[in-house]
Amino acid sequence: MTEAALVALRGASFAYEDGPTVVDGLDFEVREGRALALLGRNGSGKTTLMRLLSGGLKPRTGRLAVEGRQVTYDRAGLTRLRTTVQLVVQDPDDQLFAASVAQDVSFGPLNLGLPDDEVRARVDEALAALDITALADRPTHLLSYGQRKRTAIAGAVAMRPRVLILDEPTAGLDPDGQELLLGTLDGLRASGTTVVMATHDVDLALRWADDVALLTPSAVRTGPAAATLARTELLRQAGLRLPWGIAAAQLLRFQGLLPGGASGPRTAEELAAMAGPPTPTAPSVSSDG
Ligand SMILES: Nc1ncnc2c1ncn2[C@@H]1O[C@H](COP(=O)(O)OP(=O)(O)OP(=O)(O)O)[C@@H](O)[C@H]1O
Ligand SMILES: [Mg+2]
Repeated sequence: MTEAALVALRGASFAYEDGPTVVDGLDFEVREGRALALLGRNGSGKTTLMRLLSGGLKPRTGRLAVEGRQVTYDRAGLTRLRTTVQLVVQDPDDQLFAASVAQDVSFGPLNLGLPDDEVRARVDEALAALDITALADRPTHLLSYGQRKRTAIAGAVAMRPRVLILDEPTAGLDPDGQELLLGTLDGLRASGTTVVMATHDVDLALRWADDVALLTPSAVRTGPAAATLARTELLRQAGLRLPWGIAAAQLLRFQGLLPGGASGPRTAEELAAMAGPPTPTAPSVSSDG
């Protein structure tokens, strides 16, 4: 492995008060520059793992290291952690609290004690990255769900973290909203942010992630997205379905239409493009049904 572990849990165990043991002796790494998707059934521990990685929960045993340094859970240690790792929770209403979008997004940078012009620059940059500049002065409670979701992500982006951890960021977004978000994440990745997301969508994981981590009852299995998402027994243990792109690749290989080493289609558009340009005789879609 050439990529360094930016964030790493070593031998981490965690159980909730009066709750289940969620992880037990877990070794887990977020590697720099790799898009990582966490997948697993409801209650498998995705949110818990993300909160352990971002310092919101402290492992009962084991340790968390960021850039090779062990995290201390005192004020200074957690502030240092927050400037490196930012978590966006699933429900934006658990995260947003300020009156306006810009105020909410400025909260983190203000809390770091940054000068006003630096705060303003970061807020402008984060609003632009999430394409919500026009909403800057809007009250957060008057926004649509997707707009609140983007505002919550902007708040994390304004901290300029090295690692952005998103808990089910596409849940509740329409197809356009999902595309916009993936475009935004591509932009953040291009500027050096490592992105981790939890999702239930295996097709999204295949398309977006470099690596996937499947949370099964016995272990967390991490590996390259396409190879790991083709392991049917592992998928079954994690309560997940086979991504259709993997099935399409298997069929294409079987039919001799995809060379052994070539990667399969990751989107419907990529599959359609393999068929070549659309034929002129294809039936047109009529508008009156
Ligand atoms: N605050 C809590 N107190 C006690 N138990 C909890 C708490 N939060 C989660 N749990 C339990 O810990 C386990 C892991 O939950 P977690 O929320 O991490 O799962 P998840 O994979 O994020 O699920 P989902 O897909 O539903 O979001 C579950 O058994 C859950 O009931
Ligand atoms: Mg969850």
